[in-house]
Amino acid sequence: MGKDVIIACDFDSKEATLSFLDNFKSEKPFVKIGMELFYAEGPSIVHEIKSRGHKIFLDLKLHDIPNTVKKAMSVLSGMDVDICNLHAAGTIDMMRAAIEGLTRLDGTRPLLIAVTQLTSTSEQRMREELLINESLENVVMRYAQNAKEAGLDGVVCSPLESGAVHSSCGGDFLTVTPGIRFSGADKGDQVRVTTPETARQLGSDYIVVGRPITAASAPVAAYERCVNEFVG
Ligand code: C5P
Repeated sequence: MGKDVIIACDFDSKEATLSFLDNFKSEKPFVKIGMELFYAEGPSIVHEIKSRGHKIFLDLKLHDIPNTVKKAMSVLSGMDVDICNLHAAGTIDMMRAAIEGLTRLDGTRPLLIAVTQLTSTSEQRMREELLINESLENVVMRYAQNAKEAGLDGVVCSPLESGAVHSSCGGDFLTVTPGIRFSGADKGDQVRVTTPETARQLGSDYIVVGRPITAASAPVAAYERCVNEFVG
């Protein structure tokens, strides 16, 4: 795996997703399947997109007691995905249980990454509503260290935190970063955003881009702009 752009396919049906992916003729972008599409279509959508030649990040953000997450991950281990995830807030014990559940009998498993703080969360809301009285960067770094201690492969964070995560957890600990917007574009519900180019400069390993590509009038051109800015 190297630097890449992952498209968040936040659609509500298989038809809408496949018709979007049909826009791509020569390329096979890395695809993120999130809750909306997975809940609408179930595991068959993973198989369908994988069989078209795309890598898949299954973004279900598990967060429950260790035993429940372990069993859920064991089900996900049977799906041919490249990356899956959970919330680091579930604790180190939960993340360890997740790895156990995700690891197949032959010892292989998809990459597992942990959401630190959602890119829609501001430091002010984290302090006032979640009662976490720390800087956002400290919280992201501590959650990343917990994920590393549990044996995970990386974290989901904002590009703004990629440098700090790499410094504290090592350059090969993956930073997968949503919260991407083109220069001057509307942020929507995201708060901690950067452009693809800034994400590259800050050292993100992957950027996750949804609406700037899926809602663009020319989605392939928007994807290629992301690739050019991020990968070069
Ligand atoms: O449309 P947009 O580019 O904002 O989409 C970002 C995608 O990344 C969404 O699918 C969202 O669920 C996901 N995501 C996020 N922040 C996280 C983890 C995942 O925005 N911390």
